[in-house]
Amino acid sequence: MSNNIEGKVVVITGASSGLGEATARLLSAQGARVVLGARRVNRIQSLANELTANGGKALAITTDVTHYDQVKRLVDAAVQTYGRIDVMINNAGLMLHSPLERLKVDDWNRTIDVNIKGVLYGIAAALPYMRQQKAGHIINVSSVAGHKVRPGSAVYAATKHAVRVISEGLRQEVKPYNIRTTVISPGAVATELPNSVTEPDIAENIRKVYAIAIPAESFARTVAFAMSQPDDVDVNEILFRPTRQDL
Ligand SMILES: NC(=O)c1ccc[n+]([C@@H]2O[C@H](COP(=O)([O-])OP(=O)(O)OC[C@H]3O[C@@H](n4cnc5c(N)ncnc54)[C@H](OP(=O)(O)O)[C@@H]3O)[C@@H](O)[C@H]2O)c1
Repeated sequence: MSNNIEGKVVVITGASSGLGEATARLLSAQGARVVLGARRVNRIQSLANELTANGGKALAITTDVTHYDQVKRLVDAAVQTYGRIDVMINNAGLMLHSPLERLKVDDWNRTIDVNIKGVLYGIAAALPYMRQQKAGHIINVSSVAGHKVRPGSAVYAATKHAVRVISEGLRQEVKPYNIRTTVISPGAVATELPNSVTEPDIAENIRKVYAIAIPAESFARTVAFAMSQPDDVDVNEILFRPTRQDL
């Protein structure tokens, strides 16, 4: 019986570490053809080599998601190489927590550029192909911060709320094209994400919160769950946390 993953062409942004890397590994092991995008090309190239050596099909394309032309090139490469795109996972993200009064305007801009515009660019790059195919699946990565805001997380939480709103708008708009949409909101998962925090005192607090973080495979399994449903089942939203996480 088909797992509805085998043979699918899956583009993943932010595939060089954390959730994206774990998802590439799991989906490749289940037979997907994965197309990996990130800025750190050495990382995605060695991951692609490893997956290929294990019998999978994988392609690595240097991609900065703040540039629409680069995201388009990533998706175009998937279609040129494998003939189609079945799943677009808009996963690349940054978490630059700081209280608003510190006026970290450059951090705000970077967060908005990667977490919101990067997701929109992924949608823009994949949607024309999926419309034409009359099939596809767009998976966007939000966060518990897409449901809750805390002091210090206003900008990050705003971007992750935006990802949920964009996903719901997209869901309603793509009904005629047989495209599925899923937004996944993880709690604390052990990745390199806390390293992006630039304020030392905030970074220290986040390290404490992440003491209970769960492995990145937890996220990869939620992707596999959504993808593996029959084509007439659209899992629209998943929110998960470490069992011990209170927020
Ligand atoms: N870990 C958690 O607890 C958690 C919880 C909720 C939500 N999330 C979300 O999960 C997603 C993945 O994060 P992670 O936890 O796996 O963190 P991570 O290990 O730091 O990975 C982040 C990924 O995003 C990529 N990225 C950052 N800026 C980019 C850019 N301009 N262009 C292309 N790629 C870029 C990085 O690749 P390069 O640096 O190589 O470009 C990296 O592959 C993010 O959207 C994050 O907000 C994570």
